[in-house]
Amino acid sequence: MPATNTTPLSTQQLRAHVDRLPRYLLGHYPTPLEFCPKLSAALAGPRIYIKRDDCTGLAFGGNKTRHNEFLIADALRLGADLLVWGAGVQSNNCRQTAAACARAGLDIHLVLGRGGPAAEPDQIQGNLLLDYLVGAYVDIVEEAIGIELDGRIARETEAHRARGRKVYGWDKHVCKPLAAVSYALCVAEIMEQSGALGFTPHALYVSSAGSTGAGVVLAQKALGLDCRVKCVAPIQWPWDTQADMGEIADKAGRLIGLELGLGKSDVEVSFDSIGPGYGKLSDAGIEAIELTARTEGILLDPMYSGKAMAGLITDIRAGKFQPTDSVVFIHTGGTPALFAYSDKIAAKMHPRRLPAV
Ligand SMILES: Cc1ncc(COP(=O)(O)O)c(C=O)c1O
Repeated sequence: MPATNTTPLSTQQLRAHVDRLPRYLLGHYPTPLEFCPKLSAALAGPRIYIKRDDCTGLAFGGNKTRHNEFLIADALRLGADLLVWGAGVQSNNCRQTAAACARAGLDIHLVLGRGGPAAEPDQIQGNLLLDYLVGAYVDIVEEAIGIELDGRIARETEAHRARGRKVYGWDKHVCKPLAAVSYALCVAEIMEQSGALGFTPHALYVSSAGSTGAGVVLAQKALGLDCRVKCVAPIQWPWDTQADMGEIADKAGRLIGLELGLGKSDVEVSFDSIGPGYGKLSDAGIEAIELTARTEGILLDPMYSGKAMAGLITDIRAGKFQPTDSVVFIHTGGTPALFAYSDKIAAKMHPRRLPAV
C-alpha cells in the first residue's frame, strides 16, 4: 500500500494501514466502552464514558498490552532473545512488558531505577511483585529515571550483547512510534463502539506524555474526528513533551503509510494534574479515585489514570462541557500500583463510617 495523505479514513481503512506492521496479539479486544451514569450525575457535567483499557487482559491490563503487541513483534522479527527494559520500581510498563515476554518466550532484564540508595528494603508489592512472578530478571539500581537510568540501561544492553545475547533494547526513536500505532486501533474501537451506542464523543481524555496520546492524536487526524483530544501528563519530562508527542504521532503515521505532517501544534497536553510530582500522590488524584470507585466500582491508579481523571474533573467543574456532551475517558490501567502505595493512599483517603446509633 503506497503512503497516502488522503484522509479522513474509515476505521476499516485505518485498520488496513495498521495491518501492514507485524503484530503479536496479547490483548482482549475490543475493550468495553462503558457509560458511567452515576459518575456523570455526581459531577453534574457531560455524559462520561470510560474506555476500559485497564481490561486489556495481560497481567492486570493497561495501555502497555496494546503497545507491546507491536514491540514484541518487532523484537521477534529481529531475532531477539532478550529484552533489556527499565523505568521506576513500580513501573506498569515493565510489569506488562515482562508479562508479554513470558507469553512470547523471551527473556527480560528489568533495570528499575530507585533514584537513590535504599532507605529500607524495597517493598515487594504491586508491579514489582508481578515482575518477579512472571520471571523477569530484576535489578533495582540507584539511578533516577530519565537520562541517568537510560545510560545505565544502555550499558547493561551492551554488556549482554558482548556476552552474545540478541538484545532488543529500548530505543525511544523506534519504540515510541511503534507503540503509538497501537492507540490508533484503540480510537478505531472507540469510534465503532460510540457509533453503535448512538453518540459522537466531544472529547477524549487520556493519561499520557508519550506514545499513548500520540497514537490517539494520530487516529484523530487520520479519521478526521471533530473531537478534542486532551492528554493529561503524569510527568514533566526534561524535553518539550508536546513537540515530542507530535513527532511520535507523525513517525507512527509514516510507519503505517500515512503522511499527515503531524507536529507540536496537533497535540494538547496539560501538566496541571501532576500534583507534587511524578510518583507522588495528589489530593485531586485521590478524590478522583474515590469518586470513580464509589460511583461506578471502577478502580483508577494513583499515578496515571487517577490524575488524568482529576484533570477531567477540573475541566468539568470549570464548565468546559455541556450536559449533552459526551466525553470518553481512556482508562490506561496501572491498578497494581494501588497496593504498592497502600500506606500513602490510606493516609489520604476518606473511609466511610457508619453513623453512630
Ligand atoms: C497506567 C499508565 N497510564 C498511562 C501511561 C502513560 O503512557 P505514555 O506516556 O507512554 O503514553 C503509563 C506509562 O507508563 C501508565 O503506566
